[in-house]
Amino acid sequence: MEKYIIRGGHPLEGEVTISGAKNAAVAIVPAALMVDGPCIIENVPNIVDVMLQFEILEKMGVKIKQLNTTTFCTENNGINFDSEETFEHMTKLRASYYFIGAELGRYGRARVAMPGGCNFGGIRPVDQHVKGFEKLNSFVRVESEGFISAIAPEGLIGNHIYFDVVTVGATMNVMLAAVFAKGQTVMENVAKEPHIVDLANFLNQMGADIKGAGTDKIVVNGVERLHGGTYSIIPDQIEAGTYMAAVAACGGDVLIRNVIPKHLECISSKLEDMGVKIDMYDDSVRVRRTGPLRHTNLKTQPYPGFPTDMQPQMAAVMCLADGSSHITEGVWPNRFRYTEEMGKMGAHINVFKETAVIDGVPDLHGADVLAHDLRAGAAMVIAGLAAHGTTTVSQIGYIERGYEDLIGKLRGIGGDIERVDA
Ligand code: EPZ
Repeated sequence: MEKYIIRGGHPLEGEVTISGAKNAAVAIVPAALMVDGPCIIENVPNIVDVMLQFEILEKMGVKIKQLNTTTFCTENNGINFDSEETFEHMTKLRASYYFIGAELGRYGRARVAMPGGCNFGGIRPVDQHVKGFEKLNSFVRVESEGFISAIAPEGLIGNHIYFDVVTVGATMNVMLAAVFAKGQTVMENVAKEPHIVDLANFLNQMGADIKGAGTDKIVVNGVERLHGGTYSIIPDQIEAGTYMAAVAACGGDVLIRNVIPKHLECISSKLEDMGVKIDMYDDSVRVRRTGPLRHTNLKTQPYPGFPTDMQPQMAAVMCLADGSSHITEGVWPNRFRYTEEMGKMGAHINVFKETAVIDGVPDLHGADVLAHDLRAGAAMVIAGLAAHGTTTVSQIGYIERGYEDLIGKLRGIGGDIERVDA
């Protein structure tokens, strides 16, 4: 079992470059099977989840060619819907469900293994995905052996869909299914995250007709086909935020390159409240922290609110702030399992239902801790870099699903971290 060994307690200095956005890539790669002709995708993050999806496409029969470290070309000349190997791969990641929207959209039928992915102490529902697919005139079945299948015998027909909750996954999935649906689909109460806009921009680049992504209402006019083309994925908002939080926790001065400042506003403003100095440039952000950290409070919400995927990382920063900080988790029912691990490092955190109360301490000390999920794991790495002494983080598979070259990038800004086989 691999783990990280981190020797913490010193500031981070230097420059780091952000990769393509994981949560955009995991929707854009499945969407490539909807394209009729060569589809070139640039700025692809080299992370496990995305590489798994290219393997799934390949097992389905889609031709994949890697043009360079971050650019892939796909060509779909016909797929096999029932490859057992494909299903085995799909169970390893949450975002496998985007293959339903893509297959249903293009072929009027889909069969996908139930998604896996991070577990925040409960099931991760798909009822809004099912609602959207059924509204588009398809029949959806959750099969006993852990598969979801969908079929539209009379073809998909555009409709008006009002989501009961703001959900990134269902917004993306139903958008995919609506691309070729006859007539117009109006989706309301949709998610507005940067990766939603990125998926819509990708599809439009290939000939789709999608308007309103990034607002509460998305309108999709069905088209006949998607032609080939080239698209570059946006930089990862959460990866950038994670490095910003690392500098805030450890202290130092780091220039973070390849970012979209607009996407980082909610994170920057919180860190500035805590006394971190943030300078925004066209496509980079400089983060400095030399003085004490001030406490603050935050509530996670759908974009443009504070992102839930930055919640654990911010907790690591708050552990070292003067005074008491509160985090209220407004998206997932239970995303605080990591607080027990931070307690092993000397953090004082009490959780009451959806709120964590973090009483700052002067220092954290090294300990042996676990990564319970992707972002919790990133938070433990941040805590380890800030702590005095040596920290080991186990279950790092979660972390490597979503962060490209974490070791190399952290070492590049002075982080003392190595990956070892336990
Ligand atoms: C995406 O998950 C992200 N994953 C998550 O990031 C992120 O935390 C989440 O969006 C919220 O931003 C990917 O994009 C691969 P949701 P998703 O559907 O789509 C409820 C990471 O760290 N809901 O927006 O699964 C759900 O229970 C990962 O990169 C329903 O009730 O999240 C939750 O409370 C972790 N019914 C809320 O909506 C549904 O059908 C938001 O879920 C779907 C969701």
